[in-house]
Amino acid sequence: MKKVTAFVGSARKQHTYNAVCKFLSSLQSFGDVEYEIVRLSECNLVTCRGCKLCLDKGEEFCQFKDDRDLLLGKMMASDGVVFASPNYSFQVSAIMKKFLDRLGFVFHRPRFFGKAFTSIVVQGIYGGPKIVEYLDFVGDNLGFNVVKGSCITSLEPIPDEVQRKNNRILEEQSIRFYDRLSQPSYPVPTLFKLMIFRMSRTAIARMLNESYCDYTYYRDKGWFESNYFYPVRLNPLKKIAGNLFDYTTARSIKK
Ligand SMILES: Cc1cc2nc3c(=O)[nH]c(=O)nc-3n(C[C@H](O)[C@H](O)[C@H](O)COP(=O)(O)O)c2cc1C
Repeated sequence: MKKVTAFVGSARKQHTYNAVCKFLSSLQSFGDVEYEIVRLSECNLVTCRGCKLCLDKGEEFCQFKDDRDLLLGKMMASDGVVFASPNYSFQVSAIMKKFLDRLGFVFHRPRFFGKAFTSIVVQGIYGGPKIVEYLDFVGDNLGFNVVKGSCITSLEPIPDEVQRKNNRILEEQSIRFYDRLSQPSYPVPTLFKLMIFRMSRTAIARMLNESYCDYTYYRDKGWFESNYFYPVRLNPLKKIAGNLFDYTTARSIKK
């Protein structure tokens, strides 16, 4: 049984919510999947004040107690996660953005490895595909295995042809997502991802110390010594490249 949680960033139970329902019921038709839909508009999420305590000292130092940890727990307990948002002024909705800002510290201390992620954006006319790219980038940086998201169009009245196209897009996306849910979930990183990991971990090891929680997080996970965020076998070329990324980063910091 795979567990999927969808986070919906629209206050209405309309097109974004319906698209998520369509996606999830199609997903369920392929196998044993249980799901939960979380409407972010019904959650208690404060607006980040930018004190950066979560980044520097630890998320437990945030002065606000809202549903952040509850929602993080739901993500952690899922095999797959969906972020869905309407296109508001060429971006995600404010409700979704508030949620993403509350997760900001996870970009420093990623944790959702082995889990699948995808996004659904609903637009009236245009601008949605860029938001899909943005949400997929967010998912990637939280540590998820990202399945390319999709954008559907909801300008009313929705012609039958557009509705059929929307349904087809969501169905195809659910097939890709189900595939990812069923596959081994710890892929070998691309050279680019390997570079980002090695440069970050070397910079953190050299520039920070035990008083920074990014440092202790990386140290406790064994990331100062590991090949990557999770155990992977690197081919000889990537092994050499990884060492080179560590070496050049360390050298540039020494100077
Ligand atoms: C404040 C606001 C801003 C919007 N901005 C855009 C936009 O920039 N581009 C677009 O194509 N649609 C835009 N829309 C249309 C919504 O994306 C569209 O109506 C969508 O279906 C809303 O999702 P919902 O049905 O789940 O509420 C906007 C709607 C609102 C209310």
